[in-house]
Amino acid sequence: MKKGLFIVFEGLDGSGKTTQMNALYNYLTKEKDIKCRKEREPSESLPGALARSAIKKQLRFEPQTMALLFAADRYEHIIHDIQPYLNSGAHVLCDRYVFSNFAYQGLELDFETIYGVNKTAMEMLMPDITVFIDTEPAETLERIGKSRVGNELFDKKGAAVRESFYKAFDFLGEKGLVKNLLIVKGNQTAEAITSEIIEYIERNGL
Ligand code: TYD
Repeated sequence: MKKGLFIVFEGLDGSGKTTQMNALYNYLTKEKDIKCRKEREPSESLPGALARSAIKKQLRFEPQTMALLFAADRYEHIIHDIQPYLNSGAHVLCDRYVFSNFAYQGLELDFETIYGVNKTAMEMLMPDITVFIDTEPAETLERIGKSRVGNELFDKKGAAVRESFYKAFDFLGEKGLVKNLLIVKGNQTAEAITSEIIEYIERNGL
């Protein structure tokens, strides 16, 4: 059985990554009849639930604890969900992965600390393809405002998070951990972004 591809979507809150992930999922499953799973991080694990509560400011943890919680969630997620699906031959599309840990927890912790916390997970699994939807923070804030209650902890920090994502791609790229990174401009129509993603994925693995 050929292993599925692990395809990760990253971006700021409100960047449209969830919409794009759904569009790719629909294309692969409905038009191509390819087996796929949709996943997201934080996942449904217990550490993931604690991290979500902290993002919504219902709980409060030290920055180091936050990094550990997201990493613990990731470890559970890989072992119990992602790896089994990939091994069954399904492609896994995941809304956020380890790059988010660097981008968000990296606002308060240095990258070496975050690298240490996530090392085991990264040794087990890195994405075959990463799609970064690059949006201007002003644009995403407007979307968050219109569409839903945001993640209060990070909503106002868009510019810093965006810069942190770029630094993370460089930092992990230098360690040879970034394979097939597509950076797509978010200020286009949703359809144009979807076409760009599909074209890239068909050129790089499918
Ligand atoms: P998001 O992906 O937007 O999910 P939802 O739509 O359910 O709110 O939000 C998850 C938040 O968690 C987002 O603000 C980024 C943050 N996060 C981290 O800080 N570190 C991580 O490692 C991950 C995976 C997410």
